[in-house]
Amino acid sequence: MYSHGSHATPISTAGYAMTPGQPPAVYVYQGQRYSDYQQLQAAMQQGPSLHRSGTTSWADVLKDKSALERKVHELFVQYAGADRKLDPAELHGLAIGVGQQLGVDPIAFGDIRTLFHRFDFSGDGHLDEKETFHLIQYMLRVHRDMQQKRSAQFAQRQHVPDFTAASIPFKQVEQAFDLQKKLGQGGQGAVYLAAERTTQQKRVVKFYDKSCANAPVEDIVDEFNLLTKLDHPKIARVYEVFQDHAYIYVVSEPYFGGDLTTCAQRASQNGVALNQNWLAGILRQVCAGILYLHNNRCMHCDIKEPNVMISGDTDWQCPNVVVIDFGLARDFKKSSTGVMGTPGYMPPEVWTQGIWTIYGDIFSMGSMFYNMYCLHQRKAFEGTTIPQLQAQACQCAVDWQPLSNCPSFQHLVQQMMQPSFKARPKVEQVMMHDWWREAGKEETSPISNKAISDLGKLRRTTDLHRALMTDMVGRENLTQLKELNDLFASMDADHSGTVTEAEARKALKNRMPPAEVDKLVQTLMGDTGCVTYSRFMAEMIAAKKADNDEVLWRMFKELDVDNNNSLDANEIRAMLQKQKVREIMADRTVTDVMDRMGLNRTGNVSFQDFKRALETVQGEVESSSSTTRPQTLREGDKVQYFSSSYACWMDTTIAAVDTMTGNMQLQCKPGYWLPPEEHHKVRRA
Ligand SMILES: Nc1ncnc2c1ncn2[C@@H]1O[C@H](COP(=O)(O)OP(=O)(O)O)[C@@H](O)[C@H]1O
Ligand SMILES: [Mg+2]
Repeated sequence: MYSHGSHATPISTAGYAMTPGQPPAVYVYQGQRYSDYQQLQAAMQQGPSLHRSGTTSWADVLKDKSALERKVHELFVQYAGADRKLDPAELHGLAIGVGQQLGVDPIAFGDIRTLFHRFDFSGDGHLDEKETFHLIQYMLRVHRDMQQKRSAQFAQRQHVPDFTAASIPFKQVEQAFDLQKKLGQGGQGAVYLAAERTTQQKRVVKFYDKSCANAPVEDIVDEFNLLTKLDHPKIARVYEVFQDHAYIYVVSEPYFGGDLTTCAQRASQNGVALNQNWLAGILRQVCAGILYLHNNRCMHCDIKEPNVMISGDTDWQCPNVVVIDFGLARDFKKSSTGVMGTPGYMPPEVWTQGIWTIYGDIFSMGSMFYNMYCLHQRKAFEGTTIPQLQAQACQCAVDWQPLSNCPSFQHLVQQMMQPSFKARPKVEQVMMHDWWREAGKEETSPISNKAISDLGKLRRTTDLHRALMTDMVGRENLTQLKELNDLFASMDADHSGTVTEAEARKALKNRMPPAEVDKLVQTLMGDTGCVTYSRFMAEMIAAKKADNDEVLWRMFKELDVDNNNSLDANEIRAMLQKQKVREIMADRTVTDVMDRMGLNRTGNVSFQDFKRALETVQGEVESSSSTTRPQTLREGDKVQYFSSSYACWMDTTIAAVDTMTGNMQLQCKPGYWLPPEEHHKVRRA
């Protein structure tokens, strides 16, 4: 049914063949296997001493490809054993051997497991001779750069950009994650399905090769930091970004329903009728995601079917769509075409002038809309070679006949693929086109009765409970919770990723008694007048799990570092240091919390104390349900802002409020727009 080349199969959670559990480390040195590092070191000391002159000969070898190939062949035969494949243990031996010849500690090449994955281009869990060649070449280059770095005359020619001073934390990927399955190997680096070791949560870890960075370090760091701030149900959720000497790692949520290259086929196999209404339901979600990116100064630059995933594989009638692989493309991708993007989706201006604008994204979306409409039987650009695809894009040579049975869809896609980028519509305009109404997808779907009843369960809990819950939920995978996602989507009418009070009231009108709506708005939004996606999810999950002892116990045990089933002052202090807790409990001192938990009376906090402290809602909160909600903050209001740097509340005034986004500016922070998720740091003076 599909003519599309890259069939991304949905990822399975089965273990990666390479890591059946955690095998004991085995090192291979001079053909002998050692299960213990100390034994290995002893053997190396007794072994033939390798000449330091090797250092110079290696440097020459690096300049001569065939000499390097011969050297690698020797080493490969020596370390790979009879199967002619290097496994991670054998690679360890090889790294030690090469390190010894160069006179450096193998640590200099970085984490060996990471190296292994980096060069396992085929993703089969072994390195063949060719992969090993690239690996050894890399080791030699790292070594050369390190030496050059030491000598001042080469300081300008440093190969790997220096991120060390930047604000991205350092971490060893293998210590934090069990890399289980290779999902892809793109221009920027490998992508793995992994389990986070501390929580066993499934994650996707993407490696960005620092040596491919082609933008100033500061810009790149900003881009990475932006990723963790994006918060929208249709945009892949990024949990954290960290680095080691060779890579920057981006950890995000995994999606298990495959991508848009296989979506129609799988839906059809599951008995779904593939009509316009179904297609519009999917494409509208893509629009919502891209709209959010564009509103947050982020261009995707690589929109295509493989970069749009389905979050789960259960609901094919209304699949939940998530956009992946955004940003960073410009800063990182090394591209064979000289321009960055994917032929067949790239607009003419990128081919001819290398300009990417948000209208380039619209063009790519147009190409994808076309392909999806034709179920990939036909594509907007049918070329089979890069020059053909380039020529077709530059001439905008699209055959519109396959779309002609739906004139309004053809009109929409034609607008999106106009040769002049300035003539193309923006995402908002795309979403206002008549076609959506014709396809029955203009309005957001109404909230289900089940969701209304879930919303009714929302109750105001203690700040501490909310803080710990937000911290915990912040680490959970959210898109699997389809019902809650749908609920959020039905309320977020403008797809901004934030539900405002007006949106909530409109969505709930005539579905709940007005007093209930007031209470709900107050619970969800407090004084800020809006709620972001992740905050909404945290509140809803907290409400569902609030009276669940198991969840409280899990929280308690996470805090109980010394595992003695009680919390002492240090553990409470550590709890208050957590990012989310600091944000929500900004004005609480350790003593306050300890008092509340009875710590100062007994010297420690038992689970019962902990539970009582989390569940007892203070007078101020109980009364809030009966009083009306305080007015939303407006320009000119006198407020206080909690300064994290000074750890105190400071008097200030609201300088401006952006009603679209809910962002506000404070006089004490000129030029900074405080996003809704930081509004709890502001209170009325
Ligand atoms: N969050 C995710 N969940 C599931 N699969 C993913 C996820 N992110 C990436 N993948 C898989 O890995 C492939 C490559 O990832 P991507 O981020 O698109 O990198 P690139 O295209 O630059 O190699 C994707 O096409 C997809 O199949
Ligand atoms: Mg991709």
